[in-house]
Amino acid sequence: MLKVDHLNASYGEMQVLKSISITVEQGSIVSVVGSNGVGKTTLLKAISGIIPSKGIISFDGEVLNGLPPHRIVGRGIIHVPEGRKIFPDMSVIENLMMGAFLHRNTCKQNLDRVFELFPRLAERRKQSGGTLSGGEQQMLAIGRGLMANPRLLLLDEPSLGLSPIFTDTVFRTIEQIRKSGVTVLLVEQNVFRSLSISDQAYVITNGSVVLNGSGRELLENPEVKRAFLGR
Ligand SMILES: Nc1ncnc2c1ncn2[C@@H]1O[C@H](COP(=O)(O)OP(=O)(O)O)[C@@H](O)[C@H]1O
Ligand SMILES: [Mg+2]
Repeated sequence: MLKVDHLNASYGEMQVLKSISITVEQGSIVSVVGSNGVGKTTLLKAISGIIPSKGIISFDGEVLNGLPPHRIVGRGIIHVPEGRKIFPDMSVIENLMMGAFLHRNTCKQNLDRVFELFPRLAERRKQSGGTLSGGEQQMLAIGRGLMANPRLLLLDEPSLGLSPIFTDTVFRTIEQIRKSGVTVLLVEQNVFRSLSISDQAYVITNGSVVLNGSGRELLENPEVKRAFLGR
């Protein structure tokens, strides 16, 4: 479905992505894991067209490089950014509607689906986004992404800074989203949890893929265990 082939990306003189290649099969959960600062967010920004890149990004066989972000959104690639980026002064409902503005006709059914996935957001639908807890804001950010009818959802650090309970909710939700037919590309520092739910995973260090395999294989990999799992 998505193929990233020898992708390079830089900020000014500093090259951050160094010939990264990853493949995401339709219907799967794929995770990209690695320490802070290795280029995970940069990879998602390149895929969604927020920053320029060299190399090939193709989606359903069509090259995306050079398309503006709104055209990439139009193909069904929806990016839920690091740090949630919800609108604090708007209500929960209004935040969700922002995700739906290209999809007025499916709005009602998507809203029902989001509230079913996150009953908490339904309870708080009139509350302003800024008054929600970190975990609730993350649900709102994911919910807003789902309102845009994603075919591929890019999730950047959805569990960052969340309590263990919300972390559980986030990872369970990601599995439910995949079950509903949406493909997920997940970027995370919570290596254990991400690998546990992933069909395929890539470990990146310093802008390059150093290991890849099924989530289960990487969980058993001695280097992964040593570097990320503390054993
Ligand atoms: N807008 C930017 N301008 C300059 N350097 C940046 C910018 N964003 C990120 N970087 C740098 O690029 C590298 C990779 O960042 P990032 O992709 O955010 O890493 P990760 O998401 O894996 O933590 C880091 O060294 C970071 O400091
Ligand atoms: Mg990041």
